[in-house]
Amino acid sequence: MSDTPEPRPTDRGRTVHGEAANAGHRVLAPDDAEVEAYLEQALHAPPPQRVETEAPEHPDTVVILDFGSQFAQLIARRVRELNVYSELLPHDTPMAELERRGAKAVILSGGPSSVYDTDAPRADPALWSGRIPVLGICYGLQLMAHELGGEVLPSAKREYGPATISLTDAEGLFAGIEREQPVWMSHGDSIVRAPPGFRPTAQTDATPFAGLADPGRNLYGIQFHPEVVHTPSGRDVLRNFVVRIAGVRPNWTAANLIDTTVAEIRERVGEGHVICALSGGVDSAVAATLVHRAIGDQLTCIYVDHGLMRKRESELLRVTFERDLGMNLVMVDARDRFIRRLAGVEDPEEKRRIIGDEFIRVFEEEAADLGQIDFLTQGTLYPDVIESKTSETKTSQKIKTHHNVGGLPSDLRFRLIEPLRYLFKDEVRRVGVELGLPDAMVQRQPFPGPGLAIRIIGEVTAERLDTLREADWIVIDEIKAAGLYRSLWQSFAILTPVRSVGVMGDGRTYANLVAVRAVTSDDGMTADWARLPYEVLAKISSRIVNEVPGVNRVVYDISSKPPATIEWE
Ligand code: XMP
Repeated sequence: MSDTPEPRPTDRGRTVHGEAANAGHRVLAPDDAEVEAYLEQALHAPPPQRVETEAPEHPDTVVILDFGSQFAQLIARRVRELNVYSELLPHDTPMAELERRGAKAVILSGGPSSVYDTDAPRADPALWSGRIPVLGICYGLQLMAHELGGEVLPSAKREYGPATISLTDAEGLFAGIEREQPVWMSHGDSIVRAPPGFRPTAQTDATPFAGLADPGRNLYGIQFHPEVVHTPSGRDVLRNFVVRIAGVRPNWTAANLIDTTVAEIRERVGEGHVICALSGGVDSAVAATLVHRAIGDQLTCIYVDHGLMRKRESELLRVTFERDLGMNLVMVDARDRFIRRLAGVEDPEEKRRIIGDEFIRVFEEEAADLGQIDFLTQGTLYPDVIESKTSETKTSQKIKTHHNVGGLPSDLRFRLIEPLRYLFKDEVRRVGVELGLPDAMVQRQPFPGPGLAIRIIGEVTAERLDTLREADWIVIDEIKAAGLYRSLWQSFAILTPVRSVGVMGDGRTYANLVAVRAVTSDDGMTADWARLPYEVLAKISSRIVNEVPGVNRVVYDISSKPPATIEWE
């Protein structure tokens, strides 16, 4: 990504995320990102003023200091899976700040640097005081060893990938864990001399210091990565550190979170009025439901039906939010408007731009009709918050490069309510389940903001939308029937501009080609095409050709990302 040029507002051929559309590295958008970008634009916004608030009710906190590892967020998620609140902070966060945040334990992540580099990232030396238990992982361990008088050197034998470790200490970090363990290693440097006061706790063929501990000073370190799935006992190691050694209480649960968030929203909103745009995605659904639980009818949800949604989507939304949850829901049927504006448009980024622009217009009209509005609810997630701290506000970049269009009158200003800003996606789903949202809403695959428009290659027409919607429905239906829906990152159909010859009954046909795409992925940044069973592919293909008028051929996309992207446009 480093060679991706800075996006300019006038750039075409860029995604909503500000990256080259064909870069093969489009950043994952949470499924509601698009709607939020529209809304912030609609606010005529300079980037929203996010109030630096503390985490709800100060649950016991584990801080992960980020030394640049690609796994740093994963460590935070693993800790959360222990029902313990965790935060990811920069590696040089001062001890005083950690204490101010009530950190009960600190984990130092891995990172790509070498401790003997002059500009190697370091931590506040006060961290070694023993006031808060510290666990160093990989680079984190090497830093601890280096800073406290041990020696770290580039090793002759780089350890990368699976390794077998022998635990030589049955206490503390490794209590209750089998002595021989498969683990994941990834390091070039090695500790060759332990710092005074530390004893080795684990070893591999390549290093006698795969684990170090100085329990008297509350300092622990491991060379392997407990956060990745290739270290099966990693979870137990983290639990031992967090719960056993640091004595942190596992009180970060969906139920607790709902209680505290609801109370906070109620207090903050008072008698005010709140709006929320529902996109059909899980983030806005959960955010809206939380706010609704707090303030009931003071919340109005707006759903702009742009006609680019999947089959029965609008219906599900109405049933869930209006009928079952009893929310004030304004459903705007804007299908004709969008189709009219998309007429004749083939360029993918032009489609995105038009959809964003039209969304704002519709939203503007609806919001104006509602009278006084004080707050806007957004489904911002923790990864967005982390990112916006390091770079310029991510959303604002998105808007500049993408939706550079006129907004709402500047006197129409709202304050933001972001009830999910401490949560990772999997936690949002858990909160959704706890709130009683239906599975179909909570466990859904990501869906892009511009919807089916970027899955119809070429011009979007009402007829082609109908064709794609039917084909897409069959894909999802069969994937679900085969029990594969949740194991896939995304699975969907694409309507290509290709027509081909076929034969049906006695007649020759010349009809549309539908492509099927199913991918596995952890985060949407990279993806692999799914090895779907032939029988599932066969069923999808025959149903599409038989049930969808105007389609006589189905192909399966076997490209990975990179070099292909997940979406075709
Ligand atoms: P690509 O196609 O870049 O997609 O590999 C990565 C992830 O992002 C989603 N995506 C979008 N989401 N607006 C969105 O809200 C967009 O314009 C957009 N384009 C791609 C895509 O579905 C996948 O999950």
